[in-house]
Amino acid sequence: MEAKKKSQANEKKEEERAALLEIWKYAFAFQPLAVLKCAIELQISETVERHGGSIALPDLSTALRCSPSALHRIMRYLIHHGFFQQTPTIPHQESSLCYTQTPLSRLLSKDGMAPFILLQSSPAELVSWHGLSRRVSANGVDSAARGGDAWERAAADPDHNKLINDAMASHARFAMSAIIDQHPEVFQGITSLVDVGGGDGTALRTLVKACPWVRGVNYDRPQVVSVAPLCHGVDQVGGDMFEMVPKGDAVFLMWVLHNWSDEECIRILRNCMGVIPKNKGKVIIVEAVVKEGEGEDEFSKIHLALDMVMIAHMEKGKERTFKEWEYLLNEAGFTKYTVKDSWNIVSVIEAYP
Ligand SMILES: C[S@@+](CC[C@H](N)C(=O)[O-])C[C@H]1O[C@@H](n2cnc3c(N)ncnc32)[C@H](O)[C@@H]1O
Repeated sequence: MEAKKKSQANEKKEEERAALLEIWKYAFAFQPLAVLKCAIELQISETVERHGGSIALPDLSTALRCSPSALHRIMRYLIHHGFFQQTPTIPHQESSLCYTQTPLSRLLSKDGMAPFILLQSSPAELVSWHGLSRRVSANGVDSAARGGDAWERAAADPDHNKLINDAMASHARFAMSAIIDQHPEVFQGITSLVDVGGGDGTALRTLVKACPWVRGVNYDRPQVVSVAPLCHGVDQVGGDMFEMVPKGDAVFLMWVLHNWSDEECIRILRNCMGVIPKNKGKVIIVEAVVKEGEGEDEFSKIHLALDMVMIAHMEKGKERTFKEWEYLLNEAGFTKYTVKDSWNIVSVIEAYP
């Protein structure tokens, strides 16, 4: 009896010790984002690349005009988290340290995920996180008090508009390449594709390059398309998807519906269904499909994080489970749909009239 009590007490102590260790992770959870922002602003990844992929600490600190000891500590932190590698691995020999890239550190460049990280760590986005509890407890969200919804705020601030468009483009490049690579059949037989809420047109530019038989219409708010890069095969059209959607063989919606409420999504989807051919048209939705409980997978943490982004930054947006997607598609009047997973955080839902 005594031995059993002792073992239970030890078990409880061990659980408490593990919990205390775990909570430190959360106490400093903001740090990785801050350190990545620092690495991106200093252009560490690009600098290592410019030096042939390997650079000694003194050369790196000269190139970046940084104090070697602070830079060494930043690099030590980054290396611990899998960004960059160092050689030799002998401690206390700072001057002989040489840094090389890893697959993760390469993503800190502007062609990687740097623009996305810069958006997430921008002061305007951080302000929203400070108001998360208010937004959860508020009965209805007063977007007017925040200067309009996310897109109205972007329209009023060209620098923030650029941060958003660049961030979306960085995700679009990876997501679109993954979809074309894994599911090329999605675009077979399509000669004209309308990307609704297409941002700066990166998804269509990637598609037209890979599938030159497709002509694209990039449809977004005027403030977005007016600064989008021009590309052969892609027309830029400004407008409001709640009012009208341009005609095409198919409509593409990536990371658009998750910004809106169910009622708003149904309106958008009906507008999209109205402009595609009844017999052979389709709406291609690229979004997270949240898996719960036993169905959770390697993307679940990111899906749940994205869902928190929706509460913090969007008025009524949310990430949806398959059941929630089914509800929207049925309500909008689609008769058939399929879901394809990709190695990216988004799945492809093809919906037919
Ligand atoms: C999260 S971003 C996604 C951009 C792009 N589809 C991508 O995945 O890179 C949502 C886009 O919806 C656009 N949007 C918001 N309201 C819109 C409206 N009423 N009509 C057309 N586009 C709109 C925004 O300007 C923004 O570019």
